[in-house]
This record gives sequence, structure tokens and C-alpha cells, in this order.
Amino acid sequence: MARKKKSISDLLITGIADKGKAVGRTESGEVVFVDNAVPGDIVDVLVFRKKKSLSQAAVTAYKKYSQDRVQAPCIHFGICGGCKWQHLSYESQLKHKQQTVKDSIRRIAKLVDDIVQPIIGCDNNLLYRNKLEYSFSTKRWITHEEASSGDILDHRGALGFHRAGFFDKIVEINQCLLQDDLTNQIRNYVRGYVLSHSYTFYDIKAHQGLMRNMIIRNTTDDQWMVIMIFGQNDMDKIMALLASLKSDFPQISSLNYVINEKMNDTIFDLEVINYAGAPYIVQALGLVKYRIGQKSFFQTNPTQAVKLFEVAARYAELTLDDNVYDLYTGLGSIALYISGRVRHVTGIEEIPEAIADANLNMAFNGIKNACFYTGDVKVLLNDDFVEKHGKADVIITDPPRAGMHEDVINTLLALKVPRLVYISCNPATQARDLALLSDIYEVLEVQPVDMFPHTHHIESVAKLKLKN
Ligand SMILES: C[S@@+](CC[C@H](N)C(=O)[O-])C[C@H]1O[C@@H](n2cnc3c(N)ncnc32)[C@H](O)[C@@H]1O
Repeated sequence: MARKKKSISDLLITGIADKGKAVGRTESGEVVFVDNAVPGDIVDVLVFRKKKSLSQAAVTAYKKYSQDRVQAPCIHFGICGGCKWQHLSYESQLKHKQQTVKDSIRRIAKLVDDIVQPIIGCDNNLLYRNKLEYSFSTKRWITHEEASSGDILDHRGALGFHRAGFFDKIVEINQCLLQDDLTNQIRNYVRGYVLSHSYTFYDIKAHQGLMRNMIIRNTTDDQWMVIMIFGQNDMDKIMALLASLKSDFPQISSLNYVINEKMNDTIFDLEVINYAGAPYIVQALGLVKYRIGQKSFFQTNPTQAVKLFEVAARYAELTLDDNVYDLYTGLGSIALYISGRVRHVTGIEEIPEAIADANLNMAFNGIKNACFYTGDVKVLLNDDFVEKHGKADVIITDPPRAGMHEDVINTLLALKVPRLVYISCNPATQARDLALLSDIYEVLEVQPVDMFPHTHHIESVAKLKLKN
């Protein structure tokens, strides 16, 4: 017999946990994670999953709405998988991000949390992304309202973003507020064109259909790159669509296409063909001009990236005599950004394509005092490396969400670098690593930066100095 689901009444939502879920605690101490609620809400919930004293629950009734609630600006809010915090005021989003960093520093790093500086927010918390990846699908997400409306539904396919938790269902997007409005004009135009010319949408289960994905990138000075990804090699239709896009959108400075007949969506192993314009766009951050190619990785919020890099540079106390290592360098964006302020900078990154971009951008900017290596930091950063490149005065490290491998921490403890700057997109793993590093390094300050408004993502930079 199925067990009856437990309901909880009048649960006060007190915070936001990992992955952006709202969280409350019952009188008996049970921690309850809830979707579609914000701190300050009082809700009735139904528990649908329970593990020890942690429960996942869905709201059945809102008893009181939080004062921090606002009207979500996006028409697709609640259906589209992105920007889940739009119904929380931006001020309150920042407050919770700040608190998350403080909690990690206190509870995990076991340091005093007043080293955490007030978070640096985004001046423009909409239109901040420079890259959006749309998908076509034969399976359009149908909302409850549509399903129960009695209207005849349009099943011809959708172009937009994935419905959270569904790999095959796409939410039809008419207006996305994350990128300048030209993204909406181009996407809606393409949808109109393919519908009126009866092009097929991709069916991810059957792996058929012409229209598969579409990537739109832009720069802060209005250069636009479009990459159309087709699931079949139907050159007549492909050329007709590209010609139409080129003629109706002269703003597109780089128009490209790929034919992807593989099972997976990645285009890294495929040839991207330049149809019109240059095969790249150029984004300046500070004094450096980054050439962003069709497959390049790049910081997705360039305005905040400059603020983040400036915090890192300030925490590093750079001088023109400094020898710097930039670990997990990606396409060398931080290394190149600071290169004019130091004697030499060496970057390590495991993705060869990113290192190829780093080298290309180094040459593009005429930078002579940087070098880049492809490989695992855990393997490359050893005594031979230090002997070859000289002892570092400063190490900047920006690992992925999992934080640094224990071997890397041990190497950093053995290296005893005078100054260490730790950038992270995961306050919990950063705090775990800071606890280990604080054996010999003093953690002087931590600066949270909001790179992704309306999401739970938090970036934070820590300043460490070798203890005397
Ligand atoms: C948070 S990103 C850093 C981005 C970079 N600092 C920038 O501003 O573009 C982390 C980078 O570490 C790389 N990475 C992950 N694990 C690695 C490892 N074990 N060794 C070297 N690089 C690694 C990833 O490919 C990614 O580019």
C-alpha cells in the first residue's frame, strides 16, 4: 500500500539553499527544501521525498507572502528552467548570497565571518548575458493553462529553453530578458521562417529533424555572432535560411553554421563553417581585447567579469616585479587581463581548446610576458614546473565548482607563496579549501561578487597571505 504523504502547515521559509531551493525548518528541526517559495513566505507543503532529517516538499498553499517578493519581470518565469529567483527582490537576492558566503566561512572554514565584504551587485541585473543557447524540439512544453483551455494546440515544435528536468521538452521563448533584445528578434524571426517554410524541428528521441540548436553571442559594443546548428545536411534549406538571416539582420557580424548529425549536442568536435562576416567577435575587458571564436569559452557576464578581475588584481597586490601563476586559467582571461601589471604570468588549464584561445589572444594583444600549459593542475604544478618558471610571488586560482584537489592544496602548502588569491563559484568548496590552506596562509578578506542575478550562483574571491 502506498504510504500517505506527510503535510506540514505554516512552514516559515528562512533561507535559500544550494541549487536555489527555498528552505525552512520545522519545530522538530526537520529541514525542508521547497520549490517556488522565497524567504519570508509562510506555506503549507506536501513532502514528496525524505532522507534522514532532510525533506523535499511542494507548496500546497501560500499562507503569507514574503515582503521580499516582487513581480517577476519575465513572461516565462516559473515555466522556463532559468532565472529562478526573479520573484525575489534583487536586494534580497544579494542579501541571501552574502549570507551564504558568510555561513560557509563561519561553519566550514571556521573563520570569523566579518572578513566577508559586502557583495558587489550587478548594476544591470537584466540583459547581462553575452551567450544564449536555444534548442529546437518537436516537443513543445504545454502549460496547464493551455492544456485545460480547450483551445486547439500548436504542436509544430518549439524554439527556446529546456523545461527544468525535461531533456526533450522545450519552453517556447518569445522574450528573454537576459540578452539585448536583438536576441529575441533573431530567434523569433528564425522560428517564423522555419514554420512558414515547413522546416522540421529536431526530435531528440528519434534523432531526426533539420533545426537543432542555435547559439547567439554578443559583445558590449554590439557585435553579434549567430551559430545555427542543423541536424541534417540539407544544403538548399540551410543556405536559404542563412541568406535570409544575413539580408534581414545586417547587425549580425559573424554568421556561422554547423551540421550535427551525432547523437549528442556538443559542437566541439565538429567543423563550424563561417557563412558571412568574421568567424569571431571581439570583447574588450579592461585593456585586453579577447577574440571570441565560434567554439571559445568566455565569461558570460563581461561587465561583472571586469569587477571580479579587479578584485582579484587588488587582492593579489600586483607589482611589475611579480611572477604569477594563474591556475585553472580557462582561456587565460585573468592571466591576460593582469599581464600588463606583472613581470610574467603562467597559466594552467586542462582543456586544449581553451589554451589555444589563450595563445591566440596573447598574440592578438601583442602580449609577450605570458605562457600557457595544457594539463591537470594536480599533475603539472610540481617542483619541475616551479624550477622551470621560477617561484611564484602570487598564485591566482579559479577552480571549478568541486574546488581544488587535495594534492593541489598540499602543493600550495608546500610552495609557501607570499600571496594567494582564490576565486570560486562555490562558497562551500572554497571554504573547505580555505580551512586547509589556513594552516600556513592567513585569510584576510573574502569578496562575494554577483555574476548571475536571478540565479543561486555566487562567485567569491578570497585574499590570502603567507603567515609570518
Ligand atoms: C571556473 S573556470 C576558470 C575560468 C577562468 N579563470 C576564466 O576566467 O575564464 C575553471 C577552469 O578550470 C578548468 N579545469 C577544471 N579542472 C581542471 C584541472 N584539474 N586542471 C586544470 N584545469 C582544470 C576548467 O576547464 C575551467 O576552464
